Amino acid sequence: MTELFKAGTFRLAVLFALAVTAATSVVFLFIYWRVATFDVKRVEVRLVDEITKAISDPEDRVKREIDLRLTSDLRRLDYAGFFDKDGKVVTGNVAALPKGLPIDGAAHSMEVLPLRQMDAGTEPALLVAGRRADGGIVLLGRSLYEVFALRQLVGEALLLGVAPTIILALFTGVIFSLRSARRLKAINQTIMRIMQGDLNERLPTRGKMDDIEFVAGAVNLMLDEIVRLLGQIKSVGDNIAHDLRTPLAVMQAQLERGLAGNSEQDVRIAAKRALVELDRAMTTVTALLRISEIEFGRRRSEFTHIELDEICRNAFELYAPFAEAKSIGFTLEAPTTVPFFGDFDLLMEAVANLIDNAIKFTPRGGAVKVTVKMADDGPLIRVSDTGPGIPPNERAEIFKRFYRSEKCRHIAGTGLGLSMASTITHLHGLDLHVEDNNPGSVFEISSRQMS
Ligand SMILES: Nc1ncnc2c1ncn2[C@@H]1O[C@H](COP(=O)(O)OP(=O)(O)O)[C@@H](O)[C@H]1O
Ligand SMILES: [Mg+2]
Repeated sequence: MTELFKAGTFRLAVLFALAVTAATSVVFLFIYWRVATFDVKRVEVRLVDEITKAISDPEDRVKREIDLRLTSDLRRLDYAGFFDKDGKVVTGNVAALPKGLPIDGAAHSMEVLPLRQMDAGTEPALLVAGRRADGGIVLLGRSLYEVFALRQLVGEALLLGVAPTIILALFTGVIFSLRSARRLKAINQTIMRIMQGDLNERLPTRGKMDDIEFVAGAVNLMLDEIVRLLGQIKSVGDNIAHDLRTPLAVMQAQLERGLAGNSEQDVRIAAKRALVELDRAMTTVTALLRISEIEFGRRRSEFTHIELDEICRNAFELYAPFAEAKSIGFTLEAPTTVPFFGDFDLLMEAVANLIDNAIKFTPRGGAVKVTVKMADDGPLIRVSDTGPGIPPNERAEIFKRFYRSEKCRHIAGTGLGLSMASTITHLHGLDLHVEDNNPGSVFEISSRQMS
């Protein structure tokens, strides 16, 4: 229950109730004040006027007017009396001069015995008494009974109007805070289960957009992402294991066969072959370590002012002999210098990987072209070939670690080259994408496209 009073919703409800009460009270008080004062003031002015006239009018006329006044007062609200100079009543509906009433021609509000028989006790009235020149006293007055009744009515209306509002506001507050307390409890329990390792749990949502829902939705998205990343880590791990298993298995078979042989020559041959496989395994491990090293941005501090055309020229010269050996028409187009801020070695590695693939996958007699230039929106490096090309559905896949297209499996490789190239380009704020070269494919490193 204490939680209930601490809940924000409940406090809000109390505040709301207070605000409504205050606003309603102000309105009612204003009406009350207007009703009460306006009426009393009017009566007061009239009574004083009349008494002024009555003390100077002839006695007969005053008595007649008092009688006339009382006969026409059907509601019995008027007090009127004429007294002789000793204070004895001559005419009127008042038995005696009220005690304590000054005879000064001014209006006084006081409690008197009511004129209506049915009322017990006293009632509020406005009274004026004045002394005539001959010593007689005239008393005029009016009951304030109606005004007071009206005041009471307004007061009651105020209570009747405000009390239910307060009760309703508090009630709604309790309901709402109980509901949000229940939801928070459910969320808390789910979080506990997630913390215990059940990553498939999701925070309960109801589809209505409120604060809690918003946070729950964000946490659920975060959980989805964590699950996805964990899946990726697992698949990378599986891939590594799988990729290292093949060379290790081949090594094992070769060494066993060598040892089973008769001559020292057999052992030598086996060891040599095993070394080739070991080399492959080493290449994979080195490449993997390199990718994670680049991904964690360790090399970013080594960025300097470099020229991309120089990188392409170096890579071109490095691969020219391989292209020649495969009778591939290998050309470089580098019309201008292309200054850039980055890591020379890393970018060289990326471009080399693209050229390596192009020469590797393009059949004999094909063509590979390297272009480097300054485009309108920044530097551009393009490596195009006339090889087998990459079908559209594989264009996103080839940049993932260990992905190797089915039809290229017979050609040696680790499936890590493009992954590394894409990591390097992203580290430099650049984009790596592939398109159709009709025939063949074209890989482009360019300023990142806004998507
Ligand atoms: N120039 C290209 N032409 C056709 N396919 C390519 C080309 N470059 C890459 N690929 C495809 O993308 C895959 C991944 O490339 P990469 O990451 O460099 O690995 P690897 O070169 O070790 O196979 C390759 O196995 C191949 O299927
Ligand atoms: Mg490659």
